[in-house]
Amino acid sequence: MTSSIAPRAESLASSGIQSIPKEYIRPKEELESIGDVFEEEKKGGPQVPTIDLKEIESEDIKVRERCLQELKKAAMGLGVMHLVNHGISDQLMDRVRIVGQKFFELPIEEKEKYANDQASGKIQGYGSKLANTASGQLEWIDYFFHLAFPEDKRDLSIWPKTPSEYTEVTSEYARQLRGLASKILSALSLCLGLEEGRLEKEVGGLEELLLQMKINYYPKCPQPELALGVEAHTDVSALTFILHNMVPGLQLFYEGKWITAKCIPNSIIMHIGDTIEILSNGKFKSILHRGLVNKEKVRISWTVFCEPPKEKIILKPLPETVSETEPPLFPP
Ligand code: OGA
Ligand code: NI
Repeated sequence: MTSSIAPRAESLASSGIQSIPKEYIRPKEELESIGDVFEEEKKGGPQVPTIDLKEIESEDIKVRERCLQELKKAAMGLGVMHLVNHGISDQLMDRVRIVGQKFFELPIEEKEKYANDQASGKIQGYGSKLANTASGQLEWIDYFFHLAFPEDKRDLSIWPKTPSEYTEVTSEYARQLRGLASKILSALSLCLGLEEGRLEKEVGGLEELLLQMKINYYPKCPQPELALGVEAHTDVSALTFILHNMVPGLQLFYEGKWITAKCIPNSIIMHIGDTIEILSNGKFKSILHRGLVNKEKVRISWTVFCEPPKEKIILKPLPETVSETEPPLFPP
């Protein structure tokens, strides 16, 4: 069987072309907002806040309350933040980055053995964005996508076999992120005046909440001012956690402008996704974001989407977040 028909961004990048195919060129209106990411990263103005989670489980209620307030402010403001002192070791995050990078260093023919087949519903594996609009618009990205948690729902047979440590390292990272997700969901519940376990339960708990790993590989792009790595979108997840290789790219649309996330060593970037925005009746924000590419450095990011299984959950604002003065902003 032939693999996916999507061209690999990596093969275009390594072909030595100086101008990118027209399918990758963004519409004229959008081009005006695309700049050099290294220049953008240096800019002042509103920034992605940093949330120190050190005190989030403090015995001292005052200390804990201060930490909760910071988290609440960030979740109600940009809806995206750098988490530090999140409890996942630098060493484990480095290993996650190494195994993912090693996989993408394999020749394309090797990676093709893991190709997904979106047409037949096989969405896990190595892939590229297929054109889904009449314009045939494409993005400058290849990726690897697989379910990482709960462990009994994984299909380990489709995970990268090279490098050999991939499965062990990624499994451990997913387990630890699942723990972090629980802590954050508890904290966000308290911020909404709910019982601690409420949001966790609403999104499916330990049994049902899915952690989907997507390794995003953005090759160097000869005309980065004309393309995007990922186009503007919000995440449908409850929460999204992002690691990256310290190359800037992520931009957030805030107050009418694109702001560029700075690279903070060993922080984990966390997004509030649409699911939590809806459950909180819009109190927490799922921000529009996108990814720029550049000429000089390959960018890799490790995105973990924490999301309830689509078929099991009907999402609507929790009754406690709705009142006469705050009517539901989202239909079920
Ligand atoms: C995504 C995404 C941003 C990044 O995969 O949904 O927004 O930094 N990625 O790669
Ligand atoms: Ni996203």
